[in-house]
Amino acid sequence: MDSDKFGDVIYGYTASSNALEEQNTVLKENVGKLRNELERYKKSPLMICEVREIYGNQAIIKIPNGNQFFVEVSSDCEKLKAGDSVLVEQKNLVVIGKIAAHNNFDVEKFVIVENPNVSWKEIGGLQKQIDELREVVELPLRKPELFRKAGIQPPKGILLHGVPGTGKTLLAKAVATATNATFIEIVGSELVQKYIGEGAKLVKDIFQLARERAPSIVFIDELDALAAKRIDIGTSGEREVQRTFMQFLAELDGFESLGGVKVVGCTNRKDILDSAVTRPGRLERHIYIPVPTKEARREILRIHIKNMNTKNLDLQKVLSIMDDFTGADIRAVCTEAGYCAIRESRTTITTEDFLQAIKTIKEKEQEEKNEEHLQMFG
Ligand SMILES: Nc1ncnc2c1ncn2[C@@H]1O[C@H](COP(=O)(O)OP(=O)(O)O)[C@@H](O)[C@H]1O
Ligand SMILES: [Mg+2]
Repeated sequence: MDSDKFGDVIYGYTASSNALEEQNTVLKENVGKLRNELERYKKSPLMICEVREIYGNQAIIKIPNGNQFFVEVSSDCEKLKAGDSVLVEQKNLVVIGKIAAHNNFDVEKFVIVENPNVSWKEIGGLQKQIDELREVVELPLRKPELFRKAGIQPPKGILLHGVPGTGKTLLAKAVATATNATFIEIVGSELVQKYIGEGAKLVKDIFQLARERAPSIVFIDELDALAAKRIDIGTSGEREVQRTFMQFLAELDGFESLGGVKVVGCTNRKDILDSAVTRPGRLERHIYIPVPTKEARREILRIHIKNMNTKNLDLQKVLSIMDDFTGADIRAVCTEAGYCAIRESRTTITTEDFLQAIKTIKEKEQEEKNEEHLQMFG
């Protein structure tokens, strides 16, 4: 009986010692894991760089600040080519590995990419221009086989020119809507000012994105900021713009006129554009967008008041004092007229509100003109 008791004690001891050992192993494993984790956290972060050229197991890379280095490539690294994004050790700049699809994530941060929803009906006047656009942009995107059979090449791109506020952006969005195309919008002045040192790469990535998302329309507002004739390209800033412009021309030359990408450039300074961008094979078709005629102003006003809560509006009277208003001015008048009513706690908009709004918009424009004059002539 005694020995039995003793056996129980031993048995109990062995059991609890086994449990403890097990626990010990688990804890040891945990400590190991945590140590590894700690080691990982202590490592300095890797830098993302761009490969410029490859020489066997060495390469020229460009680091984010723009400087270039001749560096070693780790033997574990997969095969690289120029243009790849790679992870690089910060201390010695050894290339550790490649990372995928880093580029396009960036582009989408820099440019507006959308699927617009603008119907032709929302555009007042401009019927002739709309017909031309449909023929040179919409038709080739929708029915390329027609052009193949006929054996003609539609333009790769077009240029919309005319003063601001006349509906150029609107037209481009309407074409994109009609063709179910991705609309990629860049502003020329931003491309050359904001992305210093990155302009050319950005242009390259934008066209890459356009091909991936085809059918697509690359819309470049203020094209003149990028594509003006340059008399001398002395400063580094000017050389940078020139590089970006050259990349743009290379991209234009690099795609098929019957592919799924079309370029629409926009400017109010056609006179200063470099002829390299407007010549055949590039933005060869030029469409002038005029200030609306009287008839067009009536149509535009109709379009913009369609969803407004107006009452007994004397359109004739309103239109009679809107000579040389652009579409953008007319829209501004409508919004302002709505505000006039709201300020007086009304929700029906009257002729009086419109007359007041027109006065306000005219005054604002005069102020802007004075401001510009001051800036130019002091
Ligand atoms: N022809 C037009 N028909 C209807 N609305 C217009 C027209 N032109 C301009 N607008 C209005 O003015 C706004 C700005 O026009 P936008 O297309 O940006 O002009 P642009 O690109 O020529 O400077 C448009 O969103 C639209 O509301
Ligand atoms: Mg515009």
